Amino acid sequence: MIELRNIKKYYKMGDNVVKALDDVSLKVEDGEFVTIIGPSGSGKSTLMNIIGCLDKATSGSYLIDGIEVSNYTENQLAYLRNKKMGFIFQGFNLLQNLSAYENVDLPLIYQGLSLSERKERVNKSLKLVGMSERMKHKPSELSGGQQQRVAIARALATMPMYILADEPTGNLDSVTGEEIMKILKNLNKNGTTVIIITHNDDIAKLSRRVVRIHDGKIESDIVNENIKSYGDSIDESLEDNSFDSCDENSQIQIEENPKLKEKQEQIEILDNKDNDEKLKEDMDSDKIKPVKTVPIKRKKDLSEKKVLVKSKKSSRKEEL
Ligand SMILES: Nc1ncnc2c1ncn2[C@@H]1O[C@H](COP(=O)(O)OP(=O)(O)O)[C@@H](O)[C@H]1O
Ligand SMILES: [Mg+2]
Repeated sequence: MIELRNIKKYYKMGDNVVKALDDVSLKVEDGEFVTIIGPSGSGKSTLMNIIGCLDKATSGSYLIDGIEVSNYTENQLAYLRNKKMGFIFQGFNLLQNLSAYENVDLPLIYQGLSLSERKERVNKSLKLVGMSERMKHKPSELSGGQQQRVAIARALATMPMYILADEPTGNLDSVTGEEIMKILKNLNKNGTTVIIITHNDDIAKLSRRVVRIHDGKIESDIVNENIKSYGDSIDESLEDNSFDSCDENSQIQIEENPKLKEKQEQIEILDNKDNDEKLKEDMDSDKIKPVKTVPIKRKKDLSEKKVLVKSKKSSRKEEL
């Protein structure tokens, strides 16, 4: 569960203060599917970045599974991000010189997983999003919708507790956008909490819970049972067509994912209080190094992408 209490994020711009988030309180239970909607500049990405531990609030309290993380160091936040968060962005953020397979594999390399574990996860994730047939393709050889599927597979492969998607359908036509929503809804059925940001009402309609944000404040927070059934009927109507047409051999049947459950159990163990104390101690004593995260969208992180590619080569050498 995540809980924001009275979160403020202020930016000083010369003499002005931009209140990107102005006293936001929000609780999201495990397994929810939530859409955050608001006009451009309303604070959606700022909110997502705080939820995803990519950024820190100016003030307020942020709890993940009851643990206060607002005072965590950058290293601790990086660790949390790696353990719990999967990101999907409007611009897909795939590395252009890597194949679909390699893009999904990359964060797993940084998680230090074995080759066989990685292979299993990459293949399974690509299959879940209907991209098995195109795993060797580079992003430039894929449509926008296909690239976003790969980006979802990349998030999925790390088995996150939370999938955070900032305008995931923003660059896609409405039919492709609905397909992406369907994939995200199916992930949610598997138990992953999904939080989506959009400025598009049609996308928000597919979500049971819709949080509306305006000028950095939450305007409304509505759970609508009708929206839920509408969303479910959309799921059914998409069931047999769009994915098969994209990937004939891949059945988009979402199976129970035992690994996800296992991962959640591991995380639960990690998150009890003693372990959390231990985590802090280990981090302070440098026993745990922050793992490099998947490439993220902010401009200042472009340098990180370069580092990722470089280190990837070196870690491959180590394997060989
Ligand atoms: N790094 C920053 N420095 C200054 N102002 C910022 C920064 N990031 C966001 N803002 C401002 O905060 C407000 C909310 O931005 P953002 O969260 O990106 O909105 P949205 O994602 O809803 O379009 C906007 O007024 C934006 O200009
Ligand atoms: Mg934004």
